Amino acid sequence: MTTIASGARTTESKNVAVAHTPTPSSEDATEFLVFEVAVEFVPDIREETFHICYGVYRATLNLPLDGGGSGYFASPNDGMITFRSGGNICPSMTTHREPLDSVLDTIAETPLVRVQASPDEVPVYAKLESFNPGASVKDRIGKYMLEQMLADGTLPEGGTVVEPTAGNTGIGIAVAANQLGIRAVFVVPERFSVEKQTLMRALGADVVNTPTEDGMGGAIDRAHQLAEELDDAVVPQQFSNPLNPEAHYETTAPEVYDALDDEVGALVAGCGTAGTLMGMARYGRERHEDTYVTAVEPAGSLYSTLHGRDVEEAEYKTEGIGTHNPATNELFEPDLVDEIVQIDDRDTHAEMQRLAAEEGHLVGSSAAANCLAAVDLAERAAAGEVDLPYDSVVTVFADSSERYLSKGVYGDFESWEG
Ligand SMILES: Cc1ncc(COP(=O)(O)O)c(C=O)c1O
Repeated sequence: MTTIASGARTTESKNVAVAHTPTPSSEDATEFLVFEVAVEFVPDIREETFHICYGVYRATLNLPLDGGGSGYFASPNDGMITFRSGGNICPSMTTHREPLDSVLDTIAETPLVRVQASPDEVPVYAKLESFNPGASVKDRIGKYMLEQMLADGTLPEGGTVVEPTAGNTGIGIAVAANQLGIRAVFVVPERFSVEKQTLMRALGADVVNTPTEDGMGGAIDRAHQLAEELDDAVVPQQFSNPLNPEAHYETTAPEVYDALDDEVGALVAGCGTAGTLMGMARYGRERHEDTYVTAVEPAGSLYSTLHGRDVEEAEYKTEGIGTHNPATNELFEPDLVDEIVQIDDRDTHAEMQRLAAEEGHLVGSSAAANCLAAVDLAERAAAGEVDLPYDSVVTVFADSSERYLSKGVYGDFESWEG
């Protein structure tokens, strides 16, 4: 990943845009990468004394490939702007600024956008995962799991993956399988959105439905049965595969930390497999041991029981997060989580509509639940009720509402078919 954080000895605040030229590839992994860095200054009205200094300045820096380097150039006023690398330079990561060979190269490096409803003292930032080519956070694990399994031989070249999935993972795996020459078969409980199943088929995958009442457990059992019937088939099994959280440890979390110059106070994410939250939480706790971690589930889900809480099981409409059988959520590590919060479907539904109407976000229900939980945590932190190591909260908007239009997400609550 191309990572350059900024620090300045001047009093200006700044926006930093980083582009690297030429695009480095692993072949030309010589001693240095050359980066072109553009720094845009804006006045910082929070400082008592400040320079008003607009404009974009450019500098070329040589950074060693091990990521430990630094470079500088003099700003036109009295200061010196220094740059340091974030310590993790991987030449293959895209900035989406040059022509690319495959949609696989467009996965990750999604935008991080401030939630306008969050308090000024503790802003909430949302990672907009619908910017991935399969339009959800699951493109990350689709690409990561298949590439790693091909590399270590778990998945033979030209082999088959069979995966139980609520849908987005199917699309993410299907995008990767399509480009990597792998056949994909997905086992999807019937209740999940028809849009997702249509997209999986369009990408060349086969879809097998299991009864809604058998839940994800039923889909998992059926996937293993199918894999046994096929030659060369592997079940990546996102619910137990350590490559799932690893994908977020390696990509989602470093992107967030780079964007916020490592100053992340809390991580908030809804848990389906819990891969997103666990990968980010592990990375965050390594950065700062007091990073606050909040897991989000719909009311009616049973993740809370893993923290010893006696919650009532019920059906919920929020799609993509929650569990009726925590024993299947093998990746969830209760010790990595400070709190598990439940969000009512009715609140989630209203928030999905507010996010569209007020903030221009066309996001799915799990994003809305995350947003409510993240803003609530930020408000508690601003009121001094929760201590965060930094005054910021990060959450994930996992996918787009377009995927659920057939379920009436923008109608009234009663007609929303979760
Ligand atoms: C829409 C949506 N949001 C959130 C999640 C949860 O992500 P994770 O499985 O990493 O916990 C999923 C998982 O499928 C999802 O589809």
